[in-house]
Amino acid sequence: MAVAEQQTLVSTPASGSRVPTVIVDDVHIVYTVYGAGTGRGTATAALYRLLSRKGSPNVRRVHAVRGVSFTAYRGEAIGIIGSNGSGKSTILRAIAGLLPTESGKIYTDGQPSLLGVNAALMNDLTGATNVLLGGLAMGMSQEEVRHRFKGIVDFSGINEKGDFISLPMRTYSSGMAARLRFSIAAAKNHDVLMIDEALATGDRAFQRRSEERIRELRKEAGTVFLVSHNNNSIRDTCDRAIWLEKGELLMDGPADDVIKAYEAHSGK
Ligand SMILES: Nc1ncnc2c1ncn2[C@@H]1O[C@H](COP(=O)(O)OP(=O)(O)O)[C@@H](O)[C@H]1O
Ligand SMILES: [Mg+2]
Repeated sequence: MAVAEQQTLVSTPASGSRVPTVIVDDVHIVYTVYGAGTGRGTATAALYRLLSRKGSPNVRRVHAVRGVSFTAYRGEAIGIIGSNGSGKSTILRAIAGLLPTESGKIYTDGQPSLLGVNAALMNDLTGATNVLLGGLAMGMSQEEVRHRFKGIVDFSGINEKGDFISLPMRTYSSGMAARLRFSIAAAKNHDVLMIDEALATGDRAFQRRSEERIRELRKEAGTVFLVSHNNNSIRDTCDRAIWLEKGELLMDGPADDVIKAYEAHSGK
């Protein structure tokens, strides 16, 4: 079902000149999985293979992204949709420079930040320390982090039910951790910010704050990619959507149109 070979690009806010921030050109990504299948993945077996100079018999290749191309521009928020395993996280990891491509090229302007990886949080440290470290890791000065600290904590809503920010992160639910991660990442303006299902964990109020912040980030001339299972969240924040299925790009166009086609396809 090749809905869109050519790319229908949606107009950006009235700026006139369109500056590309991410160019994905006919990209293929293949994972190599070792020791797949049989129960022979023991250390002894591996040593034996090394000594006998035979390759692993159980290498499997997973062709996760198959010839995907698109260009993202400044000021765009692009939703990435598709069923589980369609390659959404994989393409974002590749844009962030965390995965090599098998073939094809990815060009980016500035350093793209993938939420949840760039802001890797430490479980044994308090939320407060993680805010500080996360801020420093994103290139803020200590002054700047101190200045933004309260804003970040308030945004996350972590302290709504008591003083949790001074407790170690391991005492947080996964939802709280995800909210804090988003709040830290969103405190900075990014050239390219990629959010992979990080919003799903929050309550409605947090989701609204997040969507509002995504709109702001776009206005500050960045590009935002959003993967979410909540199609309404994409409808509300993105003007453009890309639909991946089995590693292929099925459709690229106005968010409303693409989501409609996706919902018709998946029977929602
Ligand atoms: N680290 C990995 N090693 C091997 N295969 C992987 C890995 N991560 C994802 N895959 C495979 O790549 C395909 C795409 O996965 P993914 O990008 O996570 O999909 P999505 O985010 O759309 O659910 C799936 O078939 C998945 O099983
Ligand atoms: Mg994923």
